[in-house]
Amino acid sequence: MNSVIIASAKITLDVMEGKNLDKSFEKYFKENSVFMDNNKIRQIKAICYDSLRYFKTLDFFLQNLVPRKIQNKLIQQLLIVAMNQLTYGNKKNYALVDEVVNLAKKIDPKQSGFTNAVLRNFLRNKEDLIKKTQQTLESKYNFPLWWIKKLQNSYPNDWESIIHCQNMHPPMTLRMNQTKISLEKYKDYLTDNGIDFCELSPTTIVLNTPKSIDEIIGFNEGWVTIQDFGAQLVKDIMDIKDGQSVLDACSAPGGKTGHILECFDVNLVALEIDSKRAQRVHENLTRLGLTAKVVNASLSKINNWWDKKKFDRILLDVPCSGSGVVRRNIDIKWLRRERDFEKFRYEQVDMLENVWPLLKKKGKLLYVTCSIFEEENVKVIEQFMKKNKDVNLLKIKFPINTKRLGNQLIPSKNHDGFYYELLEKI
Ligand SMILES: C[S@@+](CC[C@H](N)C(=O)[O-])C[C@H]1O[C@@H](n2cnc3c(N)ncnc32)[C@H](O)[C@@H]1O
Repeated sequence: MNSVIIASAKITLDVMEGKNLDKSFEKYFKENSVFMDNNKIRQIKAICYDSLRYFKTLDFFLQNLVPRKIQNKLIQQLLIVAMNQLTYGNKKNYALVDEVVNLAKKIDPKQSGFTNAVLRNFLRNKEDLIKKTQQTLESKYNFPLWWIKKLQNSYPNDWESIIHCQNMHPPMTLRMNQTKISLEKYKDYLTDNGIDFCELSPTTIVLNTPKSIDEIIGFNEGWVTIQDFGAQLVKDIMDIKDGQSVLDACSAPGGKTGHILECFDVNLVALEIDSKRAQRVHENLTRLGLTAKVVNASLSKINNWWDKKKFDRILLDVPCSGSGVVRRNIDIKWLRRERDFEKFRYEQVDMLENVWPLLKKKGKLLYVTCSIFEEENVKVIEQFMKKNKDVNLLKIKFPINTKRLGNQLIPSKNHDGFYYELLEKI
C-alpha cells in the first residue's frame, strides 16, 4: 500500500495522536524509502499539511456524516484525508473515491462498503456541509476552541485576521546574501527564468509560487536563504557595528546567525545545546561561505564554554510555543496545550537570567520569540525586570510594511508573528 493517500493518513494520524509532524515524516519516509521519490514526498507533504490545516472542518464533516464513533482510527483518518482531497484537491472525484475504497478494503475488508457510503454521501451533501461549518467556532476557524478564545482575549480587534493569516499557505520569502549577489542581479535571474516575485525590502524577495529547495536559483551556491521577513528584522534591530563581539545564544539552525555574518564583520559565537542542530548551523554557514565559532553547549552551563570575555551584543532567540509560526509548522495548533505557555515562560526567564551576566555594560541584548502570546513575551520581560535593575528597554524602529501592536509582530501576509524586546545594560 504505497499510495500517497494512505501515507498521508498514517502520518496525520500520528500527529493527531501527539507526534511531531517532521519526525513523523522522517520515520515514514525512512521506513518506506523503496517506494519514495521526491515527487511522492512533495505530494504527501502537501496533503498532510492541508489535512492538518483544515482538520476541524474535515472532522466536522465526518461527525455529521457518521454520528457514532468510528472504531478503526486509520479508516477514520483515511476518510479525513480523502474529504480533504475531495474538497481542496484536484483529483477527479470518482477516481479518488475508488482508490480510497480499495485502500480501506486492504486495511479491513469489512470497512470498504462503509467507506464507499460515507464518501458518496459526502459528495452528495458537500455544499450543505460546507455551509454548516459556520455553526461552530472550531469548524469555522480550524483551531482548538481554547486557542480561539485565547486569541479573542489577547487581540480583540485582530483575532480573526490572525486566524485567517495562520490558515493561509505561508509566503516563500528569500533573503539575499549580499556578500554573494545583488538584488538586481538575482531579480534578473528570476525574470529570465519566468519566475514571478515581489520585493519586501532591498534584500528580501517573495516568490509568488513556492518552490522546493532544489528549484530555488542559487540556493546551493549560498546566494539566498529561505527566511520569513519577520525573522530578517533581527540584524537591523540589534544595532551591530563591525568589530563587535556577538553571542547568538540559541543559534540553530543558524538562520539569524547567517544573516548577521552576511552583514557585519564581527566575532560571533553561535551556541547550541543540541548536537545535531549545531551541525546544521555549520552546514548553513558553509553553504553561505561564512564562519563563526559554533559551540555545542548549553547557555545555562557557562563554565563549560565561556572564556569570561563579555559580549557587545547578545541575541536570545528562545525556544517557545511557536504560536506565531503556525502556518509553517501546522502541527503546533494540535500539539500545544494551554498549560504549555507558563512552562515556556519559566524556561525563558531562566535563560534570560543565565545570559544577562555575559553582556557588557552599555551592551544590547535582543530577546526574540516566534510567539503571539504575552506569557512568553511581555510577561517574561516584566518578570526579569522585577529582579534586575540594570536594564533599560530601548525603543525599536520597525519597517513600515510590518503589522504590529507595540513590539509584537502580528501574523500578516508579509510576515509571521514574532516578538522583539531590546534590552540595554546600564
Ligand atoms: C528558536 S530556535 C533558534 C532559531 C535560530 N535563532 C534561527 O534563527 O535559526 C531555539 C534554539 O535554542 C536551542 N536551545 C534550547 N535550549 C538551549 C540552551 N540551554 N542553550 C543553548 N541552546 C539552546 C534549541 O535547541 C533551538 O535550536
